[in-house]
Amino acid sequence: MEKKIFTIDEASKLSVKEVHNLYTNFINPNQSQIFSLLPYGKDNFSHAIGTYMFTDSGKKILDFTGGQGVLGLGHNHPRIINARINFQKENKVEVHKVIFSKYMAALSSSLAALLPDKLNKSFFLNSGAEAVEAAIKVCYKSLNGKNKYILYSDKSYHGKLIGSGSISGSYRIEKNFPKMENCVSFKFNDPDDLEKKIQECQNLGGIYSVIVEPYSASMLESCSDLFIQKLIDLKDKYKFKIICDEVFTGFYKSNYMFYFQKFKKFSPDVLCLSKAIGGGKSSISAVVMDEDVYNNAYNKLSDTFLHTTTYNAFGEESITALEAINIFSEKDFHLKVTNLSKLLSEKLQFLKNKHPDKIESIKGTGILNGIVFKSYLSSLGNIIEKLPLSFINNKSFFLKKLTASAISSELYEKYNILASINDSKNSNHLCVAPALIINENDVNYFFESLEKTLNDGVNTKSLQIIFEFLKSKI
Ligand SMILES: Cc1ncc(COP(=O)(O)O)c(C=O)c1O
Repeated sequence: MEKKIFTIDEASKLSVKEVHNLYTNFINPNQSQIFSLLPYGKDNFSHAIGTYMFTDSGKKILDFTGGQGVLGLGHNHPRIINARINFQKENKVEVHKVIFSKYMAALSSSLAALLPDKLNKSFFLNSGAEAVEAAIKVCYKSLNGKNKYILYSDKSYHGKLIGSGSISGSYRIEKNFPKMENCVSFKFNDPDDLEKKIQECQNLGGIYSVIVEPYSASMLESCSDLFIQKLIDLKDKYKFKIICDEVFTGFYKSNYMFYFQKFKKFSPDVLCLSKAIGGGKSSISAVVMDEDVYNNAYNKLSDTFLHTTTYNAFGEESITALEAINIFSEKDFHLKVTNLSKLLSEKLQFLKNKHPDKIESIKGTGILNGIVFKSYLSSLGNIIEKLPLSFINNKSFFLKKLTASAISSELYEKYNILASINDSKNSNHLCVAPALIINENDVNYFFESLEKTLNDGVNTKSLQIIFEFLKSKI
């Protein structure tokens, strides 16, 4: 295919087929093939407002995905857009790191104001994985590099860089890449296994950190009070640092502003945030550090710039995050999200009671919920039987994931609803995790459409094609 330099206008006029070809030639051929087989891969999207996306062909799609955590405030929230337009109109300064930034200064204070007293030193980055990498480094350095080990849950997800990937139980980095040394996993939410692993590592060189997702957004499962209490006790005894990864859950997705606040007398030493803080527009993340941890790691003059990055809270990213935090902090915001969470929970329960033959369980809290379906679509069962076991570890688990995918395809094709599944190997639910600003009518429409889908049956044709594709790759 011929390479060419596009204008923005030419790019916005590309047909779906042309986009597929460009993906195939210049991005990722397999992704192009998989996406183009799915119903939503047959559309080009022109614009999006709130919880709606609009296709080039004029379809209005209800976006029930919450943008995998990014769209807490929906698409193109008017206050976020205004803040950015005004910033641009005034030709504000964005990039320099050798001069002070008012906006980064203000943003660091805004975050500190939301958090326990000592959690008050922030560093800004661009992605969740980068925040996790920064967290690993500050914990290691705060103990002068004397302790060797970091512990992580076997079901965790913290990103796909070498460091964050090495402590992501669901990523299996070692099959493909070198793993960061001295990372040891414990069983998710198992206080005894945590203690055992800590004791083992203690004998081999000590622990500098334990990283946890207090609420796992991929599995939709919380750490128990018992587990967190054990973690606190073990920290007191062995003096390691606790990292909480709230990249996904932060900013009211799970009932609390930050989920760690659910646990009595619990505060992490380091907190990782991203996704919703960017207001759906800005790729920004933050690592917020306890002041003692920060000081022990970086307070020497020679260490001042030991951890930096070029794209460190650019002006427009910072004001976007400032405005997002202002919206999240408004008096009635939390109340509205609490009401939305209750509505989702009632609707889920109702649906489960009505379809015990098709729904195995409902999971979740706040606006992070999911439905695990029974494998009731026999056409899917037939194809999966033909796949070798080596390809899929657990056929029954995978079949439920496939059922959720089939239902998500049907929702799109018949009802113009975009609903996602989670690509983690530890999850097989249909995500019910919309933007925090979704209204009751849209929630009702989603559940009515889902109910009709369960009653009327599902066309599994597109998934069968994907299976053929997968088989051809084995
Ligand atoms: C809990 C958690 N941590 C870290 C990450 C990695 O973030 P990113 O994809 O921005 O690198 C994610 C991404 O989904 C996440 O859910």
